[in-house]
Amino acid sequence: MTTLPRVHLGYTPTAATVAKVSTQAWRTDWYREGGVEPRPVLLQHVAGAAGVVTVLTHEVDDEFLQAAGPQLRVVANMAVGFDNFDLAALANYGVVGTNTPGVVDAATADLAMALILAAARRVAEGDRFLRTGVPWSWQPDMMVGMDVSANRILGIVGLGRIGMAVARRARAFDMRVIATGRAASDEPARQLGVEPVSLDSLLRRADVVSLHCPLTAATHHLIGREELEVMKPGSILVNTSRGPVVDEQALVDALQTGKIMGAGLDVFEHEPAVHPGLLELENVVLVPHLGSAGDRTRQEMSDRALRNVAAVLAGERPQDLVTPIA
Ligand code: GLV
Repeated sequence: MTTLPRVHLGYTPTAATVAKVSTQAWRTDWYREGGVEPRPVLLQHVAGAAGVVTVLTHEVDDEFLQAAGPQLRVVANMAVGFDNFDLAALANYGVVGTNTPGVVDAATADLAMALILAAARRVAEGDRFLRTGVPWSWQPDMMVGMDVSANRILGIVGLGRIGMAVARRARAFDMRVIATGRAASDEPARQLGVEPVSLDSLLRRADVVSLHCPLTAATHHLIGREELEVMKPGSILVNTSRGPVVDEQALVDALQTGKIMGAGLDVFEHEPAVHPGLLELENVVLVPHLGSAGDRTRQEMSDRALRNVAAVLAGERPQDLVTPIA
């Protein structure tokens, strides 16, 4: 009797996912306690698995691959970002890594736009103010923010699929868009009226800077003290990419001194910790890494990760390969 390969999900799946895996040509097990599997438990459960579906907080490194064993063929990250993968280690062990690009674009762009508008129009600050119960009445100068549609410039750092989705939304809000990144000079960006620029020029000109680059050695602290210093006075920084792209202490300093007007942050340098300085500031909107947290998006991410697992276990090239073919 042949034993079916086993696939482990490092999180508690939705009922829809459970129904889908039950029809696959493998056995599936998963973390049953709700949410994301803690590392010590994950390391036990990956032992003997042919495939593992991970989330962005799971470090896939030497220890993980060692714990899994030589039968492991694929690790499918349920995220577009895969900075939690040690690509060299995956290559050493001959294990295929995949991600979930495309399906998160709209949800992440929606959240970036929400943070842009919330920071510009002081939405979270207004909400906190009302909850204090302090008496108030309408005032002409009360919580006046930035009119993004008043010919304001949005600077997109790292224009790719998500950046393009943000650019389309920003154009609908009558913003002008400038961008750095691989797609900034391509025809779709040109048709949308996006102007390709250098990072230095973007930081100097943009009223709102929105980050959409992956986290790599080259983008770690891409926005540090010097970059914040050249940003336009009174501008806004929005980050829905990865926390370590920004030097958080330098950002706190720039916000405290009023060098920039505000920030909208979905991601944090030492996630899940949030810099205490950020928590004290009124001019910052904070959300807990919700970029892809749309009901349909999350299901599509799970489906896409499982499709990648299915392809590798069937001996095919997965759609979303991020490692060299083993
Ligand atoms: C979310 O942060 C993702 O990378 O999909």
